[in-house]
Amino acid sequence: MNILFVTPECAPYVKTGGLGDVSAALPATLASLGHDVQVLMPAYRGVKVAGEIGDGVELPAWGPWPAAQLVPVKVENGVTMQLLACPSLYQRSGGPYVDAGGRDYQDNALRFGLLSRVGALVGTVHSPLRGWVADVVHANDWPCGLAPLYLAQSRLISPQEPTAASVLTIHNLAFQGTFDMATADPLGVPGHWRGLEGVEFWGQLSMLKGGIQFADAITTVSPTYAREIQTPEHGIGFDGILRARAARLRGILNGIDTRVWNPAQDALLPHRFQRDDLSGKAACKAALQARAGLRGDPAAMLFAVVSRITPQKGIDLVLQNLPRLLSSGAQLVVLGQGDPALQQALREAADRHPKQVAVTLGFDEGLAHLIEAGADVFLMPSRFEPCGLNQMYSQAYGTPPIVAPVGGLLDSVTDASADPVRGTGFVMTGADGEGLADALARAQRAWRQPQEWRRIQANGMARHFGWEDSAMQYLDVYQRARAAGSAAPASL
Ligand code: ADP
Ligand code: GLC
Repeated sequence: MNILFVTPECAPYVKTGGLGDVSAALPATLASLGHDVQVLMPAYRGVKVAGEIGDGVELPAWGPWPAAQLVPVKVENGVTMQLLACPSLYQRSGGPYVDAGGRDYQDNALRFGLLSRVGALVGTVHSPLRGWVADVVHANDWPCGLAPLYLAQSRLISPQEPTAASVLTIHNLAFQGTFDMATADPLGVPGHWRGLEGVEFWGQLSMLKGGIQFADAITTVSPTYAREIQTPEHGIGFDGILRARAARLRGILNGIDTRVWNPAQDALLPHRFQRDDLSGKAACKAALQARAGLRGDPAAMLFAVVSRITPQKGIDLVLQNLPRLLSSGAQLVVLGQGDPALQQALREAADRHPKQVAVTLGFDEGLAHLIEAGADVFLMPSRFEPCGLNQMYSQAYGTPPIVAPVGGLLDSVTDASADPVRGTGFVMTGADGEGLADALARAQRAWRQPQEWRRIQANGMARHFGWEDSAMQYLDVYQRARAAGSAAPASL
C-alpha cells in the first residue's frame, strides 16, 4: 500500500509529546512490513532531516495559502519525509503550535489547514508527488482533521476519480482545534458541512470534529480510551458523535520504539543494563542523583516524573502527596514544562528540599532517558491518558510505574498487588490524591522486599511493547477503510 502519514510533529525532528514518537515509529514499522510510506510534516524553522534529498515540487498559491514546496528526504528507516515548506506559515520562532510566549499562533487554522489540504491532495489523481498517489491518508489529531473532509469533498466533486481512504487517529480528544466559524470560508469548508453534521461544535469550527465526521475509519491509541471517549465523562462533548460512528472506531495500543528506548543499547545513558544484570541501573541512579543535586544515596527511594506539566497529568496529585513522601526519606525528580502555576509549585518544593526534590523545567531528551533508567518508580497519575508512552518506557527500563486507572495506562500496566506473579507496576484505585497515596504506600512496601521488587522489575522488562502487533492492526484498519468506502454525507 501507498500510505501517507500526515502529522504536525515527528521525532527526532520536532517533538512536543507522544505523537512525535508515534510519528517516527509507526511509519518505520509499516515500511519494514513492505509498504511504501511517506510522512508529511511542515518544515518548521530549524528542522534538519538527514538523508537523501530529492527534487522539490512547487505547489502554486491556492485560496488563502501562498505558494509552497514539498521537499522529499529519504531517511534511513525506509520512510520518505515530505517536508511542507511555506516560510510565511511555518518558519516561526516558537514551537509547532504556540509562539515563544506559549500562545497559539493566531493563524493556526490556515497553518494546519494547508497541511490537511496538501495531505488530501496526495490522495487524489492530482497528487503533486509525480505519480505517487496515496491509497490511504492517515491523519493525526486536530491539525490534520480537515484532511478526511477535503478527501470526502474531492470524492463528491469527481466521483469517477479514485481517492484514498482516510483514517483519523485521535491521540488526545482534549485538543479539538476550534476556530471561529468565519474560517470556514478561507478553508473552503462547503456550506452544507458547517452544521451539526459537519464541523460545527458549539458555534465554532472544530478541525477534530471534521476528521471524526468524515474519516472512513477512526482510531485512538488504546482500547480503553476508545471506550472511554464514547461516555459523557471522558467524551468532552464528542461522545455522541463518537457513539454514532462507533462501528468505524477502534482502539490500538501504541508501541514503543525499541531502537530508541532500550536500556541495553541506549546511547544516551552513562551505563547500560539488562534484565539479568541491573548493576548499570544502579550506576544510572547514582549519576541521576548527582546530576540532579540530590543526596547520593542508593537507599533513598527515587520517584520520577517526565511529563507535560498540565492538569491532565495529575501533577497536582503528586504535589499533594509530597509531604508524606519526603517524610519517608524518598526523593523526587521532575522533568517537564507547561502550566505556570504548577511549575511554580514544583520549583518552590525543590527550593525548600534541595536534597530531596529536583525539578528541571524544559524539554531534554537525554535527561528523560537518564530519569527512566535511574529512577526507582515512575509516576503517572493522569486524570485521563489516551495511551501514554512513559509508563511503557519505564517498564522497559526496570522502573515500575504508578499509574491512574484510565485509558492506555490500564491497558499497559499489570497491578502487582492484584497479580503478584505477573505484576509490572501499581495501578491506583482512583485517579485522585487518595488513589495515589495508596499506590505510593504499596510501592514503598514492595520496595522493602528486594525479591518482590526484582520480580516486578523483571516482569516489566520482559514485556513486549514493540510496534509490530499494532502496525498489523493499523494495516487491517487501512484495508477495511478502503473496502468500506466513503462515510461522508452525499451532498456538498
Ligand atoms: P503526551 O503525548 O500526552 O505528552 P506520552 O506519554 O504519550 O504523553 O508522551 C510523552 C513523550 O514526551 C515521551 O516520549 C516523554 O519522554 C516525552 N517528554 C515529555 N516531556 C518531556 C520533557 N520535558 N523533556 C523530554 N521529554 C519529554
Ligand atoms: C497524546 C496522549 C498520550 C499518547 C500520545 C501518543 O499526546 O496524551 O496519551 O500516548 O498522544 O499517541
